[in-house]
Amino acid sequence: NIFLHRLAENIQDAYAEAASIAEQAVSYIRTLYAFTNETLAKYSYATSLQDTLRYGILISLVQGLGLGFTYGLAICSCALQLWVGRFLVAHGKAHGGEIIAALFAVILSGLGLNQAATNFYSFEQGRIAAYRLFEMISRSSSTTNHDGISIPSVQGNIEFRNVYFSYLSRPEIPILSGFYLTVPAKKAVALVGRNGSGKSSIIPLMERFYDPTLGEVLLDGENIKNLQLEWLRSQIGLVTQEPALLSLSIKENIAYGRSAASD
Ligand SMILES: Nc1ncnc2c1ncn2[C@@H]1O[C@H](COP(=O)(O)OP(=O)(O)OP(=O)(O)O)[C@@H](O)[C@H]1O
Ligand SMILES: [Mg+2]
Repeated sequence: NIFLHRLAENIQDAYAEAASIAEQAVSYIRTLYAFTNETLAKYSYATSLQDTLRYGILISLVQGLGLGFTYGLAICSCALQLWVGRFLVAHGKAHGGEIIAALFAVILSGLGLNQAATNFYSFEQGRIAAYRLFEMISRSSSTTNHDGISIPSVQGNIEFRNVYFSYLSRPEIPILSGFYLTVPAKKAVALVGRNGSGKSSIIPLMERFYDPTLGEVLLDGENIKNLQLEWLRSQIGLVTQEPALLSLSIKENIAYGRSAASD
């Protein structure tokens, strides 16, 4: 059972890996065509499926051995029962009919157990799948703040004070180190800098998609960590570098997140 558990876990990981390759290929299909990388994508998908094949064969082998073992056990127990029965009849301790009835009971219960045993793998699979799912569901976000305060009338003064930040996926690369920025209310401010210098990374910090490693981001002098998250985000209008257009009208796209806005 432990062996099956490991294998079932591995095969799930292998399928997840293959699925992510397929998903990437489909979502970046234009890039794929533009670089005529179809063959490469097909090849890497096929390669990633090899692992699932290997684990599938192993699982079938283990299951087959298990099934053979349980059938063997059932047949051996029948043989033992007949052997003991022979002695009992020979010594006049039981009738032949009783022995036969007991034999049927042993066979039928053995078959029942056998059928139950083949379902163990499904139980195991379900358990592993649910474990992964629950692990993800129970992960709590460090940025949620439902009971924070909100500022009654927002002026719009933004300040970054000694902010240090790096993305969790690449903690060794600092994006901001001791960054200061003051944006007075109603002022248009442009940030200019090299590609990848961290201009766009200011925005997710303002929206609290991420929190700074050190330092603070202030809205009208209040650390945004103390503000209620939904309220904070509803105060910000954002058009990103690569804007996402939803399949709605242009008007609805502009008013997205602000259904109460006037024409
Ligand atoms: N989600 C992310 N996870 C990890 N690293 C990221 C992420 N987003 C951006 N980066 C990295 O952070 C650095 C700064 O990126 P950012 O997009 O802020 O730069 P930028 O100044 O806006 O660049 P550009 O001029 O191209 O718009 C880059 O090295 C980028 O690769
Ligand atoms: Mg940018």
